[in-house]
Formats: sequence, C-alpha cells, structure tokens
Amino acid sequence: MDYDGLAYKVEPMQASDVQEVVAIERLSFSRPWPMGAYRYEIRHNPRAHYFVVRPQEEGAAQREEPRRGLLARFRSTDQRLPIVGYGGFWCSAREVHISTIAVHPRLRRKGIGQLILMAMIEKARSIGADHISLEVRASNLVAQSLYRKYGFQVVGRKRRYYSDSGEDAVVMAAQDIDRSPYSIHLQELRNRLIERLNRSKDDVKQGDGYEELGQKPRSGQKIGG
Ligand SMILES: CC(C)(COP(=O)(O)OP(=O)(O)OC[C@H]1O[C@@H](n2cnc3c(N)ncnc32)[C@H](O)[C@@H]1OP(=O)(O)O)[C@@H](O)C(=O)NCCC(=O)NCCS
Repeated sequence: MDYDGLAYKVEPMQASDVQEVVAIERLSFSRPWPMGAYRYEIRHNPRAHYFVVRPQEEGAAQREEPRRGLLARFRSTDQRLPIVGYGGFWCSAREVHISTIAVHPRLRRKGIGQLILMAMIEKARSIGADHISLEVRASNLVAQSLYRKYGFQVVGRKRRYYSDSGEDAVVMAAQDIDRSPYSIHLQELRNRLIERLNRSKDDVKQGDGYEELGQKPRSGQKIGG
C-alpha cells in the first residue's frame, strides 16, 4: 500500500519499539503479552511479521513547535512520533494467522485499526498467502465487526479458549485473499480508508489525542488469549 501523504505510516516493528507497544498492549488487553514475547517475535521468529503505526512526520512532527503535552516530550527526547497502534501475524506456507492488533484507546475509531489490518493483509498477499485466520473473544464485537468488514467470516468456535475468563474464541478467516473477488473488495476498502485517513489529517496536525497517551485503563481483549 502506498502510504505517502496519509496521516499515518506503517513500519516494521523494531526492538526499540517494544516498550511503547507494550504500553498500548497493557491498555488494550486483559492478558497482555510481556515485552519479552514481542522481542522474541521480532528477533527470533522468522515466520513473524509485526508492524507499528505512527503519525506521518509531514502532518504532525514538522510543525514548528508541537502545541502541548506528550507529543512535545517525544520530540525533545526521541525525535520519533509516538506509536499509536500495532499488529502482527505468523505465516506458514500460504496461511497467515493474525496474532495481535491494537490501537491506543485515545485514538480509536479513526481508521487506524483498518490501516493496520489492511497493511497486514497486503503483506500477507505479497508473500504469497491465500488464507488468513485469527481467534477473537466471543464478546469482542468491535473487533469482529472490523474483521467482517475485511471479508473475514466465522469458521469455527473454540470452547473456553481463554483461560482467564473461560470465554469462547470465535475463529474467523478470509479465504482466497490472492484472488480477484477479494482483491476488488480490498481495493474498494483501500480507497475508502484513504479518504477517511485524509480526513484525520487535521486531527494529527493539531496533535489531538497524544497528550494523554498511556493514561487510560484497559478495554480490549487479546487475540489468542
Ligand atoms: C479492534 C481495534 C483494533 C479497532 O481499532 P480502531 O482504530 O478503533 O478501528 P477503526 O477506526 O479502523 O474501525 C474499523 C471498524 O471496526 C469496527 N469498530 C471499531 N470501533 C467500533 C465500535 N466502538 N463499535 C462498533 N464497531 C467498531 C467498525 O466496523 C469500524 O468500521 P466503521 O468505522 O466503518 O464502522 C481497537 O478497538 C482495539 O485496539 N481494541 C482493543 C484490542 C482488541 O480488541 N484487538 C482485537 C483482538 S481480536
């Protein structure tokens, strides 16, 4: 996907990103992965592909002076803009399994989750996958709605899959992602997503949402438990 000009950019996750990723993880999942799990995935698992999303420099960082808050702190100490979301998958032969996806609670409903999912689907297609699956808590209707939008259908259920609550996992999958009906659907979604993210540009320019990153309670569910 060509991300040039969008309000956000997607990049491969680096070891130096893990601390920020885990901060969002803790806000998003009742059973968060520890930092070591992410470090292992990106350093030692050749089948793992993990991504982070940050605001594009052009929109937010190249302003003369950030207006306030956390964004200003990031600019003075690190020069990188904060991670706002991330996702990852494992690939085996032509099958991809999404292991995680999350967006900072302050920045949800702006299309960032779709951007991460789109990037993962496009990466999966580019490495020859034809099938993507995942598990999601039965109660996580928000995530299920996102996946349905991207052509995932319920293909199974794993009883009492999540050991913390005994909740079932719903298994969802998108098939034939390398073929034309799915490609056409993805292209339509991509066009709509680009429009939506372009509408978010003003939010990013204003720095909206950054000042309280890292301060909200948990609200989500971890894929796979
Ligand atoms: C799931 C998650 C990644 C979505 O991220 P997001 O940036 O808010 O998603 P988007 O703005 O791109 O929304 C994409 C779609 O998700 C669904 N969705 C997102 N928030 C929703 C809500 N509050 N209610 C209903 N549907 C919602 C909708 O289908 C939406 O499409 P629409 O805006 O065109 O209606 C985010 O809610 C999250 O991080 N949740 C906690 C972690 C989690 O549950 N991960 C999934 C584990 S299986």
